[in-house]
Amino acid sequence: MSNWQELEHKYYMGTFNRTPVTLVKGEGARVWDENGREYLDFVGGWAVNSLGHCHPAVVEAVTEQARTLIQTSNQFYTIPQIRLAELLVQNSCLDKVFFCNSGVEATEGAVKLARRYGKLKLNEAYEVITTFDSFHGRTLAMTAATGQTKFQEPYLPLPAGFINVEYNNIEAIKAATTNQTCAVMLEPIQGEGGVNLPDDDYLRAVRAWCDQKGILLILDEIQTGVGRLGTLFAYEQYGIEPDIMTLAKGLGSGVPIGAILAKDKVSVFSPGDHGSTFGGNPLACAAGYATVKFIIDNDIAGNAEKVGQYLTKGLESLKQKFQSVTEVRGSGLLVAMEFSSDVAGALVMACLNRGLLVNRVKPNALRFMPPLIIGEKEVDEALDLLDKALSDVVS
Ligand SMILES: Cc1ncc(COP(=O)(O)O)c(C=O)c1O
Repeated sequence: MSNWQELEHKYYMGTFNRTPVTLVKGEGARVWDENGREYLDFVGGWAVNSLGHCHPAVVEAVTEQARTLIQTSNQFYTIPQIRLAELLVQNSCLDKVFFCNSGVEATEGAVKLARRYGKLKLNEAYEVITTFDSFHGRTLAMTAATGQTKFQEPYLPLPAGFINVEYNNIEAIKAATTNQTCAVMLEPIQGEGGVNLPDDDYLRAVRAWCDQKGILLILDEIQTGVGRLGTLFAYEQYGIEPDIMTLAKGLGSGVPIGAILAKDKVSVFSPGDHGSTFGGNPLACAAGYATVKFIIDNDIAGNAEKVGQYLTKGLESLKQKFQSVTEVRGSGLLVAMEFSSDVAGALVMACLNRGLLVNRVKPNALRFMPPLIIGEKEVDEALDLLDKALSDVVS
């Protein structure tokens, strides 16, 4: 058998701190490594495998589409693209869609749309306010939008036009707003920043401020959208509507696709203003359609809410048992467990050894983002494995 991990070190750029396991197969919430060992997957492709691995609805849609038409270019109309756009519009508060291939393309495109709106309607305003501990992706502009110095410092100077302010602080947004501001961009819950929840009234206050100033609210729902928090989109839980919303991750249940959605009044792109060679191709859109349709028809968001509560309750019990657990927080199936010291790396390894895949979101916090189709049985199994891993590592 090849030593895949050695070959990776030889041939692949050193961008990832990988967990030492080589995965070769997946089904539902389970994956298998090259030696045939089975793991319960609570990483879920970083909140991507919404229907789990190789869900029949997605596999069938992709297989059928691959036999029919994979890619054409956006010079032409294609039916899967139009069907997915219609499905998203009919099930959200937004009116128009643009498809791309990843999360960062969606946020970058959303900011371009806001800047275009600023140029046309807000006297050329172009600045976008974002928050510390946010994550909006890895292009240079989205690195500037992402309010984390560890991502920004290696690439200074960054593109201008982004103001990072404290999260969960409406006064900070107000203080940063000038006549150059065209938009505020936020994650409803900060995912990569550590699963940070807003106060109850924060998003409503931001919405009211944007309305008062006539500026746009962009919600980055790349991690929170498509059912993960227990509703199809997170904004539904906060009693607000964004002007622009970005999606990716769970949208194709593993097949790369991103989307920018916008209200009619904000859809100001004209032909040539924006584009993508692969964005909205029939293959990815067939996967997206199969995923979103299955999620809606089978109330998978409701399952995420129910099973998420069960998971959170179980993690709370472990908090009672292990003193070093300081907090359990989250919503739906996006949940973090925080510790009093930097044990998350050791816990990822201890869980791996016991057959459970989890994510270290911060040196002192684990994140759980399993497929949305899991049931209480899988949660019980994960809690049991985590309990044992915690016994291995902490008190
Ligand atoms: C909220 C949010 N926005 C944007 C991104 C970037 O997505 P991608 O890695 O697909 O470019 C991520 C990825 O973690 C994310 O969580």
